[in-house]
Amino acid sequence: MSRTFSAQLAARAANIAPSPTLAVDNLAKEMNRKGIDVIGFGAGEPDFDTPDFIKQAAIEALQRGLTKYTAVGGLPQLKAAIADKLRRENNLVYQPEEIVVTVGAKHALFEIFQVLCEPGDEVILPSPYWVSYLEQIRLAGATPVILPGDPANNLKISAEDLRRALSPRTRAVLLNSPNNPTGAVYSRQELAALANVILESQAWIVSDEIYEAFIYSDEPHVSIASLAPAVKERTLVVNGFSKRYAMTGWRLGYVAGPRSVIEAITNLQSHSTSNPTSFAQAGALAALQGPAEPVRAMVEEFRRRRDFLVEHLRALPHVECALPEGAFYVFPKISGVFGRTVDGIKITSSTTLCQLALEKAQVAMVPGIAFGADEYVRLSYATSFEQIREGVRRLQAFWERLQ
Ligand SMILES: Cc1ncc(COP(=O)(O)O)c(C=O)c1O
Repeated sequence: MSRTFSAQLAARAANIAPSPTLAVDNLAKEMNRKGIDVIGFGAGEPDFDTPDFIKQAAIEALQRGLTKYTAVGGLPQLKAAIADKLRRENNLVYQPEEIVVTVGAKHALFEIFQVLCEPGDEVILPSPYWVSYLEQIRLAGATPVILPGDPANNLKISAEDLRRALSPRTRAVLLNSPNNPTGAVYSRQELAALANVILESQAWIVSDEIYEAFIYSDEPHVSIASLAPAVKERTLVVNGFSKRYAMTGWRLGYVAGPRSVIEAITNLQSHSTSNPTSFAQAGALAALQGPAEPVRAMVEEFRRRRDFLVEHLRALPHVECALPEGAFYVFPKISGVFGRTVDGIKITSSTTLCQLALEKAQVAMVPGIAFGADEYVRLSYATSFEQIREGVRRLQAFWERLQ
């Protein structure tokens, strides 16, 4: 007689919350499959296809036999092209040993927290925050210290806030500019003020710059690492190909930083994923070396959508919407409708609002609570202009039903 199997998992696994942004996107896709016409504002990926010259490079790589393991940390030519990009665009000089290619920026961040953090360490996480940081910090055994951004400054944190949050246990400070979910962009002065405070501590800086190509103001993107050698020496610059080149499914990102950290990440990678997919790396190389025009065209289209969406969200009663300077999200404040009802159902949180909007208006948005900010919702405008126009029309009709 066999005993009943208890199917026990590690506490580490049991405590992981699934990604709420992917959950909304999956739900919208599922409803669409069932024939329900949902307007999806949930997606965190460009609706554009990967430019053709990038696909061709990967196809040619397959045909010439780039089908074997590559170096764990990425093809030397790709690392050289990344180093070139960082020098050209970000004013940052890195050697190949200071760069590792990863299976997406998400993987890069996961590995960073694994190699930097010990149980008991704290990581300062400005909120609103991208959902995976929280889980990844916890998976590394560290404690996220949530630092709310200032609503009067596009939900960005200030140097004074940061000074108060730092402690002897702070192992790292996470920065994400342009920001998901707010679209806020930190200026050079704001970054310099934050860097000065961090330099007084022992904390690393983890700078997630994955949306750097999506900036709609005249202020260029600034990598905090470029501000001074003393900042660079404690910064891990994270970036990737998913957003800028519409390559989300290819799974390619990278980290640039001090040799010791890059070596540790490469060692960790050697026992987990090994190299990122060989022929995908050939596509990434082409992306870095190819024409900038497809990216420019995509950014211009995003700007048009952002302007349209913000204008119409601002026209909804009880909604406040800042103009995001970057990324492809808007993050309107919707707590003004808390306490109101639709068909007798009371809106009490960002979650109830999003559930009702999905059910009653077939519009999918992500509740702000997923990013640690329940007074807001996130809408991605990485969907066609026609879809945005229809989504806005449905939201207007939904808002008219609010009692
Ligand atoms: C802020 C931020 N960082 C990192 C990532 C991960 O990107 P990747 O596709 O390269 O893993 C995302 C994706 O949504 C993101 O929004």
